[in-house]
Amino acid sequence: MRKKIVAGNWKMNKTPKEALALIEELKPLVKDADSDVVFCVPAIDIIPAVEATKGTNIAIGAQNMYFEDNGAFTGEISAPMLKDAGVQYVILGHSERRQYFNETDEAVNKKVKKAFEYDLIPIVCVGETLQQREQGITIDWVRMQVKKAFMDVNKEDAVKVIVAYEPIWAIGTGKTATVEQADEVCNAIRKCLFELYGEEAAYSIRIQYGGSVNGKNAAELFSKPDIDGGLVGGASLKADFASIVNWDK
Ligand code: 13P
Repeated sequence: MRKKIVAGNWKMNKTPKEALALIEELKPLVKDADSDVVFCVPAIDIIPAVEATKGTNIAIGAQNMYFEDNGAFTGEISAPMLKDAGVQYVILGHSERRQYFNETDEAVNKKVKKAFEYDLIPIVCVGETLQQREQGITIDWVRMQVKKAFMDVNKEDAVKVIVAYEPIWAIGTGKTATVEQADEVCNAIRKCLFELYGEEAAYSIRIQYGGSVNGKNAAELFSKPDIDGGLVGGASLKADFASIVNWDK
């Protein structure tokens, strides 16, 4: 049975002081969660966040990293830096990075492979635009993104990946995909993983849904057998996030 995983993606929000305040507020509220709990915080918040969550059930994630170990890449942060700082997860290929920072499928794939070198768990984001959905190419598009992200990733590593299905039209818009839409694509992703890695691996890999998840819709979404939790943006910035983490209570 796959354990559900609920991750907050804080995006570019919360100064280090604000991050500590939110963590202290949330710690007691999420401590009895049945799901894995991850806070993906801005890079500058990582070190205080790791310190503040030591000994708790909250793991810290990063929101991006570069695919080289070190060197002349001004402004970037590397996998060994994240590892050394105590990070456990890293979001890769978020649609905002693809859209605003020209991140390609090839770069995402290199980052996924680099994450494994340093024992970081990648949360790989995929999802279609509204136009692609209207053209009826959602499944083809998402399958392609999955295949490119997992290129040359062996089965042993593949089972550790978290895939986050985030329809771009549902991010930050208040428009959640219907449970049927979310489930259909998560199911198609699992089928694609089955083709790539076989049944056992495909049923081990966790697939999250992301896009306007909140305390009201989380339980319905996460109850679906192919939806193994959520990647939450806006609603992860408030104490209310606890009601998403505790969706099954
Ligand atoms: P919202 O929950 O704000 O729609 O953001 C979703 C997201 O992009 C999480 O990575």
